[in-house]
This record gives sequence, C-alpha cells and structure tokens, in this order.
Amino acid sequence: MIMNNLKLGTKFTLFLSLVFISGIFISGVALSEALQRKAQEQIVSKGMVLLETMNSVRNYTNTQVNPLLTPLLDREEEFIAESIPSYSVREIFEKLRQNPDYNNFFHKDATLNPTNLRDKADEFETQLAKRFRQDSNLKELSGFRELFGEKVFYIARPLAIKEESCLRCHSTPDAAPKSQINTYGSEHGFGWKLNEIIGAQTIYVPAESVLESARRSFSLVIGIFLGVFAAIILLINFLLKQSVIQPIRIMARMAEKISENTADSDKAQECNPQNLTKVARRGDELGQMGRVFQRMAQEVRDREQRLKQQVRELRIEIDHAKKQKQVAEITDTDFFQQLEKRAKKLRTRNSED
Ligand code: HEC
Repeated sequence: MIMNNLKLGTKFTLFLSLVFISGIFISGVALSEALQRKAQEQIVSKGMVLLETMNSVRNYTNTQVNPLLTPLLDREEEFIAESIPSYSVREIFEKLRQNPDYNNFFHKDATLNPTNLRDKADEFETQLAKRFRQDSNLKELSGFRELFGEKVFYIARPLAIKEESCLRCHSTPDAAPKSQINTYGSEHGFGWKLNEIIGAQTIYVPAESVLESARRSFSLVIGIFLGVFAAIILLINFLLKQSVIQPIRIMARMAEKISENTADSDKAQECNPQNLTKVARRGDELGQMGRVFQRMAQEVRDREQRLKQQVRELRIEIDHAKKQKQVAEITDTDFFQQLEKRAKKLRTRNSED
C-alpha cells in the first residue's frame, strides 16, 4: 500500500488534513444551513412588519377615512380613491419606496380582475392566487422570486371578499357609484363574489443583500476555520518532528550503524550512547526506548572493547608461542646439539682446571 511507504510526518499530516477537511465540510454545511435560516428569518421578519403595518393602514382607511368620504362618492364626478383601503396602502407604500433604503421593497394587492390596472396580478402572482383558491386552508405562501432583476423574498396572503358591502362596487357596474364608472370604467373590478378569493396580497423584500451578507459571514468563518486548522496542522507537524521523529531517527541510525561494523571512528561516533541522553531523560515511551537503546549501545560497545582486548592478548600469546617454536627449532638442530655438548665440555674442563 502507498500509505505504508509514506513518512510518519506525511502520514500524520495527511490523516489530520482528512479529519479537518471532513470536519470543515460537515460544519460548513451546518453553518451554511444556519446562516441561511438566520438570513431568511431576518427577511421574513422585515416583510412581516411591513405587511402588518400595511394592514393597519388598510384598517384605518376602512374605519376612519372611508365613512367620511363615502357620502361624497355619489356626488362627485371623479371617484375619491383615498376612500379605498387598497389605494391608501399602495400610495403609502409608494411613498416608502421613495426612500432609497426601501427602493426594492414592494407591496401589491395583486388581483386577478382589478379595478385599477396597476393592481393586476402578474403571472407569478396569478399562480399564488390560484393556489389560494384551490386550498382554502392555505393562509400564507412565501419564497424567493426574481423581481426588478433582483432576487426578492415574497410573503403572500389570500385576498378574499368577506363582506357584503364590498359587492356594491365590485359586483356589477350598475350597482357601483357613477364616479367609479367615470374614473375606472365598467370593464374591470366587477363580478367578484362573496367569500371568493380575488387575488393575493403580496409583499416583496429584497433578499440579495441579506443572503450576500450571510454568504460573506460564511466565507469569513470558513476562512478562519481553514486558517486555524492549517496552523494546527503545522504546529502538530513541528511538534511531531521535534519530539517523536527526531529521536526515532537517531535511534534508527544508531541501530543501523551498530548492525554494520563500528570499527571506523566516524561510525563509532554515531553509535555513541551519549547521543541519546536527551531522549533517555524523558518519562514517556520514547524515553524508555531511548534508555533501552542506550544500554544496548553501551553493551555492544563494551563487548566489542572486550573482544578487542581478548584479540590483542591472544595475539601476544600467539607471538610468544611462535617465538618458542622458533627457538625450539633452532635448539633441536644437530649443529646446536653439538655446540651445546662442546660448550658443556669446555665448561667442565674449565672447572677441572
Ligand atoms: C365605494 C366602492 C367600493 C367599495 C364599497 C369597495 N371597493 Fe374595493 N375598490 C374600489 C375602487 C374604486 C378600487 C380601485 C382603487 C385604486 O385606484 O386603487 C378598489 C380596489 C380594490 C382592491 C385592489 C384591487 C383593485 O381592484 O384595484 C381590492 C383588493 C378591493 N378593492 C377590495 C375591496 C373589498 C374587500 C371591499 C369590501 C371590504 C371593497 N373593495 C369595497 C371601490 C370599492
């Protein structure tokens, strides 16, 4: 396997990287999910505040403005649109949109068959209204869509005719005030029925900037994660090299040299047990190993020294024996025997004299 051929440091780095990458991936998915949800909550809450505010405006117009203006509707030539809640909501929101901060917010009483054509539901809103029509239990729809060339979040609620009084102006042109026909004509905004869903009140909140800020937070956090993890990997690698790999390398080299011949002084230097003093002082497993190694190296060294001494002694003995043998060889010769005899004779003669 390739794994077996890798160095310890590389293996560790690889392993840690794998752990960190999967860690970052998993936390990244969770973080992205959480940030996305947070961003969406932020968008929804903005939309909700505006929607409720607009409904309060609707209510105010309905209860406080409308009664004052209703008597004028039959008398005036032109319809007084200010008496209509939908109109005030739309106008107030348009004023809000003049503020650059709310430029991309939008509110619409999107109606399938509107009195005022600016309230006409577009294709998307028509689908929303149709879904509300199909399911009367459906009270709200929300999601993202493209509007003004931007991604926006929408919240939509069904627009329903709940009061009989609405039908005066929205059932047939004959029943409606003259001023309404004068202003809006008799083709749109009629034929509505009681309890019918006529459209979808929809609020749009720009989502791009909020989502972008969520993405930025995501990138920042992941960037910090990556930085910290990279620093951790480097640090662990450094510590590993310092406290594990380095001593092991010394021991491995020593073992290698011991297994070879230590006669030459260079190698003998590398086998010096003193090299392991630092490791041997440690209390951990490597320290234990270092001490064993130190003892072993010392043992091998001593034994070798003893062996050398014995060889030296043996050599002296051999030299001695050789000399004796050479002497014997000389003394054993006839010539030497005769010489010795003659010497003896000479000595005895000398003593007789
Ligand atoms: C006096 C006549 C009158 C009455 C009563 C009336 N409306 Fe309207 N309604 C109008 C007119 C006119 C408009 C268009 C106003 C504008 O220019 O935006 C309108 C607009 C609307 C709109 C916006 C969509 C569109 O058609 O342009 C909705 C929704 C609506 N009315 C619902 C209702 C409901 C619900 C009631 C009953 C609570 C009601 N109306 C009662 C006259 C009336």
